[in-house]
Amino acid sequence: MVQFTRGPFPATRPRRLRANAFSRQLMRENTLTPHDLIFPVFVLEGTNQREAIASMPGIERLSIDLLVKKAKHLHSLGVPALALFPVTPSKVKSLHGDEAFNKDGLAQRAIKSLKDAVPELGIMTDVALDPFTTHGQDGIIDDSGYVLNDVTVDVLVKQAISHAEAGADVVAPSDMMDGRIGAIRGALETHGFCNTAIMAYSAKYASAYYGPFRDAVGSAANLKGGSKANYQMDPANLNEALHECALDLQEGADMIMVKPGMPYLDVVRRVKDELAAPTFAYQVSGEYAMHQAAAANGWLNGEAVMMESLMAFKRAGADGILSYYAEAAAELLNR
Ligand code: PBG
Repeated sequence: MVQFTRGPFPATRPRRLRANAFSRQLMRENTLTPHDLIFPVFVLEGTNQREAIASMPGIERLSIDLLVKKAKHLHSLGVPALALFPVTPSKVKSLHGDEAFNKDGLAQRAIKSLKDAVPELGIMTDVALDPFTTHGQDGIIDDSGYVLNDVTVDVLVKQAISHAEAGADVVAPSDMMDGRIGAIRGALETHGFCNTAIMAYSAKYASAYYGPFRDAVGSAANLKGGSKANYQMDPANLNEALHECALDLQEGADMIMVKPGMPYLDVVRRVKDELAAPTFAYQVSGEYAMHQAAAANGWLNGEAVMMESLMAFKRAGADGILSYYAEAAAELLNR
């Protein structure tokens, strides 16, 4: 008969420290707080207007007055900043997207109202032409539909300056044109906005996860299946993300961003490890939509996956997360 003796095996029992709440707390390597979150918001013309977005259950487009109320609430929850996206009426869209730098445009008015009402809350703006062009591309196109780099950058610079003049704290170019960070940084300095920060959408992939966002801002119909693959990055690439991030930092970006989020956490980790710069990730509309759809069907526990998914960004090395869950998660964390 074989004798089993109770020897030293297993020498280490990792489960020992998982056995009680106190030791799980002591062992926890990462934390998520409302201060890690940036809430993307969609702003509408009019007063007292709110519209549901079918593909983003729980998120609404709001007119400026209602957005101001929302902003106060987010500030009280400890969320440091909003990312503002205008829903541009089709009558002001044009081939060249000149509405983008209208001093009295919707985005510019929203920035002013938000800064007047809640000055401590950071306001970050989207610098790109897609809400303003009749074709839904992020820049100015030639006759073949190709997005022209350098003429687009000239317009992006005007747009960024108009946001800074309105009071934006952070401008966030999401267009992926070459050289736009340097051009915008230079113009901000010469216009006296040396403390207006730039968060660069540096590693922005040509992703199908942006679908619900394009519904939300009303650029999907204009884009008509058009692709952004000749300026946004190929989802197959990782080294190129480092190259893009390094270029944007060299050109003067204060913060870099990886987008989408969850399918690209390997990119977040690599960028953070190699460049050690302030690094953000965007949990985009399609990621939110997937979670919400599964939760609505009872297939996933909505609150639990919300918190787990946000923590995953912290574990991957993100300093902060743009997420449509920012409000709900901050509410839960304040409970
Ligand atoms: C446009 C822009 C997009 C998003 C942010 N800015 C869409 C796109 O590039 O087509 C996507 C955000 C999301 O899906 O939540 N410049």
